[in-house]
Amino acid sequence: MSIVEKFMTMEYGPAPEDPREALAWLDRHGRRFLHFINGTWQAPASETYFDTTDPSTGEKLATVAQGSPADVDSAVKAARAALPAWQSLTPHARARYLYALARQVQKHSRWLAVLETLDNGKPIRESRDIDIPLVARHFYHHAGWAQLLEQEFPGYTACGVVGQIIPWNFPLLMLAWKIAPALATGNTVVLKPAEYTPLTALAFAHICEEAGLPAGVVNIVTGDGSTGEALVKHPDVDKIAFTGSTEVGRAIRKATALGHKKLSLELGGKSPFIIFEDADLDSAVEGLVDGIWFNQGQVCCAGSRLLMQESIAEKLIGKIQNRMNTLRIGPPLDKAIDIGAIVARVQLERIQRLVDQGVAEGATCWQPSIPVPSRGLYYPPTLLSNVHPTSVVAQQEIFGPVLAAMTFRTPREAVELANNTVYGLAACVWSESINVSLHLAAKLKAGVVWVNCTNLFDAACGFGGYRESGYGREGGREGILEYLEPVWFKNAPPVHPTPLAIDQPPEPAADLSAPPIDRTVKLYIGGKQARPDSGYSMAVRGADGRLLGEAPLGNRKDVRNAVEAARKAESWGKATAHNRAQVLYYIAENLSQRGEEIAARLSAVVGKKQAEAEVRLGIECIFSYAAWADKYDGAVHNPPFRNVALAMKEPIGTVGVICPADSPLLGFLSLVMPAISTGNTVIAIPSEKYPLITGDLYQVFETSDLPDGVVNIVTGHATELMKTLAEHDDVDAIWCFTDEAGAAAVKTLSVGNLKQVFTNEGRAINWFDANQGKGRWFLDHTVQVKNIWVPYGE
Ligand code: NAI
Repeated sequence: MSIVEKFMTMEYGPAPEDPREALAWLDRHGRRFLHFINGTWQAPASETYFDTTDPSTGEKLATVAQGSPADVDSAVKAARAALPAWQSLTPHARARYLYALARQVQKHSRWLAVLETLDNGKPIRESRDIDIPLVARHFYHHAGWAQLLEQEFPGYTACGVVGQIIPWNFPLLMLAWKIAPALATGNTVVLKPAEYTPLTALAFAHICEEAGLPAGVVNIVTGDGSTGEALVKHPDVDKIAFTGSTEVGRAIRKATALGHKKLSLELGGKSPFIIFEDADLDSAVEGLVDGIWFNQGQVCCAGSRLLMQESIAEKLIGKIQNRMNTLRIGPPLDKAIDIGAIVARVQLERIQRLVDQGVAEGATCWQPSIPVPSRGLYYPPTLLSNVHPTSVVAQQEIFGPVLAAMTFRTPREAVELANNTVYGLAACVWSESINVSLHLAAKLKAGVVWVNCTNLFDAACGFGGYRESGYGREGGREGILEYLEPVWFKNAPPVHPTPLAIDQPPEPAADLSAPPIDRTVKLYIGGKQARPDSGYSMAVRGADGRLLGEAPLGNRKDVRNAVEAARKAESWGKATAHNRAQVLYYIAENLSQRGEEIAARLSAVVGKKQAEAEVRLGIECIFSYAAWADKYDGAVHNPPFRNVALAMKEPIGTVGVICPADSPLLGFLSLVMPAISTGNTVIAIPSEKYPLITGDLYQVFETSDLPDGVVNIVTGHATELMKTLAEHDDVDAIWCFTDEAGAAAVKTLSVGNLKQVFTNEGRAINWFDANQGKGRWFLDHTVQVKNIWVPYGE
């Protein structure tokens, strides 16, 4: 018998991990856990508890406290009380605490891995070799950020008390992704683990005690969705970080619309796994095993949609089926198990329901003939082929070991299919051609693209989604920024409701005997001056009540036309940064040439001094973003694998900008220029106080080589126009810098497609102060980072 034949006949015997230590720890707690609040274990105010079970057997593991609003309140109070002392520590002292947490995680790595597997059902091989090492890596990496914080993020400060809500698929890893950056940046935390998997979060509380973390810095409140809701709604929480379903993400966006909580959402996905005919097919199949059967497919970035080039589809399906026949499904503590148990019955039923629906919609279902345990919550690896791109199994997150296969012919078709969902979390591209792979990587709408690899994660590389996969990033520099705010912004006063003081009366008209020539301002859409659809205009008056002119009253249709024009101009994002910089410089040049007349007109509303300052600083602002255009670029990360990760800063897309009222020119430029400097296209609603600035702006733009549709301006009533913008599905981000009501309105109205929202939170921004009015803070909101992992090295 040859070695190959011998190898093929080898059987894997069971080799179960010993769970005694983890079970003994549960026993030491009497199998009953309280909340961890202010460094002590506190009973739930309601005295209610719920069970957490081992999904592979159905056996109860422990009873856990059900958190009520009173428990959440007590945890938030503890976090608030702990905040000043935690923030007054030196960065080095905080770094030591994070280092101590990393060390403790490593020392307890086996106990944590077994506990995770018991509570979640995932194979021990994964919790031992992936989850827990990544947890330790995350704390080490962030010990480093704590140490470097003041040097690397000058002028920034912690958000304050952070509420964190995590899911059940990577319980301890998600905890680390949330807690490490929060602590490194000087925040204190209230974390709610998922109801199915609270045990490793409670074990982590124990590690916090061991590491001597000051009381109240980390608080763990267990419970279900209602506990999470209480945390989201608590008025004294400064930021919410959430990972979970898009549906709950939407609810959280809505629930936080009326306050000033900072928000990051890491939501679902339906990630494409694209295999070209020139790929190393055997490697691609191994990658696929990892892509969809890792953690039973309960992975937000699972490669759940297989897109195969048509020429290799049949051969590839054969290879996949052969490999599926060798997968082992069973008790997750067995070290030779590939697929463990599904976390909860409700999830198992959901998987079955979606597969049934996919089959009813025409998909062919294939499952290998491998033994599946009859006890416990198991679902066999499943391949659905002949899936129509609009079928529910191609569009909805199944969150189970189910692969939906489709074919494509050309790279272009692959991109179209890949981007044809509401999500944008991750994507895999398999091809031996670096040209094809990187060409696709640039076109895929996803926060992470793995080239010839899959499911690689590292603390140094940001992770997070485009579109309805959420916003914000975890890991890397981007992840740190989610937990910081500029110091000036945190302390900024509310927008003043009274009009600005005018320092000088407007100049009288030169010739009072002849009537002035009527100055008609129009909308500016797709590079053309356009009349408003409504046919109405609104009177614009100066500070002294004099009629200055009339501005068009834009309506929904005008906004929709402007969005269409902005969409069509998307190639602006693909122009070289050098090219964009040249256009911006030219805008500055043309503004400078018309500066005096623009200032003269503007002075009728804001006074001479302010008008001149707006023009002068406006030119400087444009110069500043022209300068940034080719310098605000990405990074290359060196994760601890044979890879580089290219962190590319990509424009968000089409951005709706509602400009501040009080600085009609400078406010407009301070928002629109950073947005277009990084390649976004814009629909701007100019200052309602002086919309006539539009006429000056488009004359400048028209002479500056700005491609049609990159900036579109619709004048009118901001509250009406912002509604259409915020609700429009083709708008990717919305910025509102008017007042508190405006900020709340855009947050509420934009939940439909989960637009990225950037507002002044109703606070006053001094556009005349360079520290506040321009710079990285604005630029950071104009891009989303895409990490492209490429194999590299020996
Ligand atoms: P979920 O989104 O309901 O749960 C995630 C976390 O949010 C849990 O801690 C839960 O207690 C909490 N939560 C639930 N409702 C809340 C609310 N109104 N306010 C605040 N917190 C709340 O996810 P679920 O129901 O466990 O799973 C359903 C589906 O969601 C899955 O089948 C999967 O498609 C998706 N999902 C996606 C995850 C991801 O990583 N992207 C993780 C977990 C689930």
